[in-house]
Amino acid sequence: MRTLIENATVVLPEGTAKTSVLVEDGRIAAVDPAAHTRADEVVHAEGLHLIPGVIDDQVHFREPGLTHKEDFAHATRACAKGGVTTFLEMPNTIPQTTTQERLAEKLALAATKCLVNFGFYMGATTSNLDELRSATRTPGIKIFIGSSTGDLLVDEQEALERIFAETSLPICAHCEDEATIRANRKAVGAPSGVADHSRIRDHQAAFVATSRAADLATRHRHRFHVLHVSTVAELAVIDAAREYLTCEVCPHHLFFNVSDYERLGTLVQMNPSVKYPEDNEGLLKALAEGRIDVVATDHAPHTLDEKNRPYPESPSGLPAVENSLALMLDQVNRGRFTIEQVVTWMCTNPARVWNIRNKGEIREGWDADLVLVDMNKTATILNESQETKCRWSPWHGTELTGWAVRTWVMGREVFRDGRIDGTVRGREASFDV
Ligand code: DOR
Repeated sequence: MRTLIENATVVLPEGTAKTSVLVEDGRIAAVDPAAHTRADEVVHAEGLHLIPGVIDDQVHFREPGLTHKEDFAHATRACAKGGVTTFLEMPNTIPQTTTQERLAEKLALAATKCLVNFGFYMGATTSNLDELRSATRTPGIKIFIGSSTGDLLVDEQEALERIFAETSLPICAHCEDEATIRANRKAVGAPSGVADHSRIRDHQAAFVATSRAADLATRHRHRFHVLHVSTVAELAVIDAAREYLTCEVCPHHLFFNVSDYERLGTLVQMNPSVKYPEDNEGLLKALAEGRIDVVATDHAPHTLDEKNRPYPESPSGLPAVENSLALMLDQVNRGRFTIEQVVTWMCTNPARVWNIRNKGEIREGWDADLVLVDMNKTATILNESQETKCRWSPWHGTELTGWAVRTWVMGREVFRDGRIDGTVRGREASFDV
């Protein structure tokens, strides 16, 4: 099957150009193919942008074990619609992904169910060092330095030192300091509402944990990725340890803050917590300045019934994969960023950070994970049209301009103008070591 995507505005590594892209056997066969090139299908893409598929390096798809919240089928339909062609998923499922055997089971399950490409982190515990040392078929190790959903937690210094010293895969971590959280919880006392969440999981909690991780990574010369940075203060720590560190930010930390608790309540209860307007502004500015490598979602669905429990029984997390690209493209339309920057944060850099082979750029010979974007399309996010199994979005009612209109996974079209082809299956991503 040869597909010719003709006359698109293509975001290429060397710059954006009006050209055509030929896809054959799941790969990008040619950029700017000869005029006489024949194809089985010609896509007239005049006026549309062609970008590499989004790689979301932080999602929780809940399968196996928590499939009443989300599952691979729903989550990857959401990905297809949102222009996400590869995801890297976190180990806090049931069972947890903490052994090679569990990882292999998850990969096998994903191969039968996922509409887009996939990879899974290995979760660190205080007792699985051998598994972490010998792990294969994974982008890296995930550590919860602070607890979140589930009970994966490694916060003792000695255990952390050993993981950083004795493993070689890249490490990423949820950086909120457990001792600070406990002390804050005590100081806040009986919770009076969800706004307490940002007092308990405060700036200090994020700062202490990120500082601690940066110190470990630097001393052990270990590649480390700081997940979901929520404060400007953490960035100074990251800047100072750049040789070993990369970092990312999530849309909810860019666009929500404590003032949203009044309107959205526990729907914007997340770990790390949302912070203050100054943090939104500071993170947006830091992104534009190139101080943040990746934009990812931390897609973490819970049912509305669960979210509607009174705080603190309400779980932390919100879904986002189907809207993250549009949220960022809307910012492009507002003149805040360029589309090339969005591609760098959401496609190119995640592939580089996690050494994902042949993805993240539109290049001859690379995987044909592609998204056609209509920068003029305006649509409103509505709970009832969400593909995620939990069927709500904290952005319900938000109108955005700039949406994915067609998505290809390894050359197969999985999404076109609102329709999803549920027969498409993604592949296991490969990681260069
Ligand atoms: O709010 C969160 N929820 N943050 C995380 O890091 C985990 C996630 C979840 O799995 O629910």
